[in-house]
Amino acid sequence: MKLQGKRALITGGAKRVGRMIAKTLAERGVNLILHYNTSRTEVLAAQKELSTAFGVSVSIFQADLKNVRTLEQKTKKLVRDSGPIHILVNNASSFYSTPFGTITETDWDSLMNSNLKGPFFLTQIVGQSMAKSGGGKIVNIGDWSALRPYKDYLPYSIAKAGVIALTQILAKTLAPKVTVNCVSPGAVLLPENFSSKIKREIIKKTPLGRMGTPEDIARGVLFFLEGTDFATGSNLIVDGGQLIR
Ligand SMILES: NC(=O)c1ccc[n+]([C@@H]2O[C@H](COP(=O)([O-])OP(=O)(O)OC[C@H]3O[C@@H](n4cnc5c(N)ncnc54)[C@H](OP(=O)(O)O)[C@@H]3O)[C@@H](O)[C@H]2O)c1
Repeated sequence: MKLQGKRALITGGAKRVGRMIAKTLAERGVNLILHYNTSRTEVLAAQKELSTAFGVSVSIFQADLKNVRTLEQKTKKLVRDSGPIHILVNNASSFYSTPFGTITETDWDSLMNSNLKGPFFLTQIVGQSMAKSGGGKIVNIGDWSALRPYKDYLPYSIAKAGVIALTQILAKTLAPKVTVNCVSPGAVLLPENFSSKIKREIIKKTPLGRMGTPEDIARGVLFFLEGTDFATGSNLIVDGGQLIR
């Protein structure tokens, strides 16, 4: 798909990996809708930076993925007001340790809703509108740990496994007008509370001998957007070889 002049909604686009995906699309002339939840200062900075640097239009969209009723209302309004959305990148996620034996229903609901349920309800609205208009492309951001789950991240890993299933089901449902694919990162940007010892251990277990970068993930997204129009239901693992180790 030619990207120049298209419009993309990127969830969790204010910082980290989402912001790099936004920059990569802006560089190609894509107009952006940057979704955020709490990072208002960062999203406003990203809006200013990307619109100034690349001359694209950048609007912002606040919604908590955990609150489905409000999310649906806001997304319907967005779809009505924004004009056609050609690209959706479901990047937003929450991630924290939940050792077995300590998991509460609140943890379960929070991790499932932010990683799977909310993204589904948002995609249902955006995907239907894409299918009714000229078509589009959806890229979900998964995690290599959906295929080799982390022990202390049970609800998160199950939710990300659900993201892969969701990718396949939506790919069937929305074909032929809309493609739906997944990019599954390995370790890219660790949470701030991870020690440098954990980082060294991860690198030791990664055949390519380094952490990934946000650019590595953005290039994976770009592959599904402009590299091919003949992939749907795919899961591209961008993990430096961690899964095959
Ligand atoms: N970083 C890695 O090493 C790594 C590894 C494997 C997979 N991944 C996947 O790659 C993607 C990006 O990773 P990341 O580390 O950049 O993500 P992140 O910083 O953990 O989260 C991205 C954004 O998600 C938004 N978010 C969280 N809970 C939300 C909610 N309830 N409603 C709406 N938005 C919510 C937050 O927005 P606000 O800040 O605006 O609240 C946050 O900035 C994620 O899907 C992640 O699972 C990352």
